[in-house]
Amino acid sequence: MQQETIDVKNILGLQLPTDPRWVDLTELSLEEILTDHAYCEQKAATTCISIIQRHSQYEKLITEVAPIVSEEWSHFRMVLKELQRRGLKLGKQRKDVYVNELMNFKKKGGHPDDRFLDDLLIMALIEARSCERFKRLSEGLNDTYLRKFYRKFMESEAGHYTFFITMAEYYLPKTKVRKRWKEWLQFEKELMNKMEVRGDRIH
Ligand SMILES: [Fe+2]
Ligand SMILES: [Fe+2]
Repeated sequence: MQQETIDVKNILGLQLPTDPRWVDLTELSLEEILTDHAYCEQKAATTCISIIQRHSQYEKLITEVAPIVSEEWSHFRMVLKELQRRGLKLGKQRKDVYVNELMNFKKKGGHPDDRFLDDLLIMALIEARSCERFKRLSEGLNDTYLRKFYRKFMESEAGHYTFFITMAEYYLPKTKVRKRWKEWLQFEKELMNKMEVRGDRIH
């Protein structure tokens, strides 16, 4: 068990850290970044619901994803409250280039196990990157209140990315999970590399 935990940590490494300019840019567009963050939380909740709908045969998974739906929804509400507390408005949802590009990397056909694995790994990856971004905000923002605010999100999303990897390894062979996870990490690195650094987006 101890060994497993260490291994999980080792394979989670994102290949490209966030551009250090990003945090400074977010402070210039607080309404936009909070709006974007709010929708990210909303999408996390709806994607967890769709995991339950698509993979209802995996009892342990659906039992453990169910409370994450509530947690992600509570995150949405926290961000909405923060916008309102600052007299800012929830803007329109934007096109999510990062997530759409990742979706294109998902296996469309083949064995159902491969599609199941990608459903879990794409979640793990988005959680991992979100966690990394929240960490940046919690360390780099000038606003003390927001630094603490983002620290809470960072901790929560860290638990989520570990959860999705753990579930993949619970249902599928570890070697298979790791091989595909490496491919996802490589793809995400290339994607991050070509994406513009924008302060109005979480990703
Ligand atoms: Fe969240
Ligand atoms: Fe999450």
